[in-house]
Amino acid sequence: MPNDKKRRFIVLSNRLPIAVGRGPDGELTASQGAGGLVTALAPVLGNRGGAWIGWPGTSEKGVTALCRNFSRQAGYFLRPVSLTEAEVEGFYRGFSNEILWPLFHEFQMPCNFLPAYWEAYRTANATFAKAAAAAATDDDLVWVHDYHLMLVARLLKAKGRSPRLGFFLHIPFPPADIFLKIPWRRELVDALLDFDLIGFQTLRDRRNFFDVVKRLHPSAMRKGRGEIVTLTLAGETTRLGVFPISIDFAAFADRARDPGVRQTAKDIRQAFDNRFLLFGADRLDYTKGVPQRLDALQTALTSYPELRGKVCLIQVLVPSREEVPQYRAMKEDIERMVGEINGRWSRPGWAPVHFVYRNLPHDELIAYYAASDMALVTPLRDGMNLVAKEYAACNVAETGILCLSEFAGAAMELHRHAVMVNPFDVVGVAEAIRDGAAMAPGQRRRRMRAIRAIIRRHDIFQWVDAFLDAAFSTHLGDFPRQSA
Ligand code: G6P
Repeated sequence: MPNDKKRRFIVLSNRLPIAVGRGPDGELTASQGAGGLVTALAPVLGNRGGAWIGWPGTSEKGVTALCRNFSRQAGYFLRPVSLTEAEVEGFYRGFSNEILWPLFHEFQMPCNFLPAYWEAYRTANATFAKAAAAAATDDDLVWVHDYHLMLVARLLKAKGRSPRLGFFLHIPFPPADIFLKIPWRRELVDALLDFDLIGFQTLRDRRNFFDVVKRLHPSAMRKGRGEIVTLTLAGETTRLGVFPISIDFAAFADRARDPGVRQTAKDIRQAFDNRFLLFGADRLDYTKGVPQRLDALQTALTSYPELRGKVCLIQVLVPSREEVPQYRAMKEDIERMVGEINGRWSRPGWAPVHFVYRNLPHDELIAYYAASDMALVTPLRDGMNLVAKEYAACNVAETGILCLSEFAGAAMELHRHAVMVNPFDVVGVAEAIRDGAAMAPGQRRRRMRAIRAIIRRHDIFQWVDAFLDAAFSTHLGDFPRQSA
């Protein structure tokens, strides 16, 4: 057994944590991705001489050199996995986006169970496993992220390799009756059981997974209670844990206190004449419930005349997966609905919906969070939903209202203090909007303060620490936490 300090740390995810773009002279450029995960893992990787293995999202020439240069700057290695166009089509667009994504979010209609997609998924997972085998020794710690890479532990073991292996599923795990529709269900579940630890966002996800294992393997046994339980099957054990992911709370709160950001927030409020501002920010995805949210606004304006001229919904949609037909169709539906609502209700100086279809700069998004009276976080199903947590972190004045779907993973931690809604119930969401607009300042403050206290305690650094401790019995983090 090596000294724990010598173990290196290897992360695998479908995408590398960089945004590849083009500079002014057309040269390829890379910048660190914006997510909280990379913020939390980068220092751990730096301390451990670690590596992050992933697909750079492009097959352009020069990307390997770009990653090499970026590695120097980042303090850890970025190892790009190159996928052919056919692999991207079958593995990413096909198996990941047309089967796993919809099914795991309990959308069965868009699933396209093409056997060729499964073949591509296996081939691509083998490519990732090969890269992991080249980067890691059996003494190292390998942490695999998300649904794209569920076969990696099995494929590494088939190569005779046995580093310590952890897996975290960022999206929900569906109920057994839904999961069992996948023609390759047994291969997927058995491959997952080759990880030493499988992490889920919520207890519900873990329960669903255990139900599936029981249906496929009635002799499976579960031991223990609480955050981590042990599953035994044919003499082999796998640990199953619950780790609700979070954000870098202090960094968000800090930016929200920045004078420039505060000024932008003030300007936003002024531009909307200090009306009651509803805010939604979502990746364009059918799981996020944006059409249902617009329906709820329409219902609210129809049923409660006192809201006309008083409320505005600012809806930011970040373009995503534009090559998948459902996503393109959805954008058109949303634009049509926004047009209908504004067409019906607008009057001089007021339009009910302000629609933004692009990725906002970070500080501008924070200013919108800080300026809004109520966030509508109403996904139809979501692994966690970090917008809910970011909104609260940026609400340093503690006066915002979080309206949260009971089907977001975040509901598990925040349901006592958020305004909870069933996003399919447009009348219920309309009532929540009406009640929010009338909520007393004291109640707003009490609720938001309680929500912020929970997220401050359970931030992304605590999440990384908890997972690493459970997976590898080690604390790897020397985190550069800011004070909030
Ligand atoms: C979700 C998934 C991530 C994924 C992201 C963006 O958050 O959990 O694994 O990277 O969506 O989707 P994309 O398909 O563009 O990578």
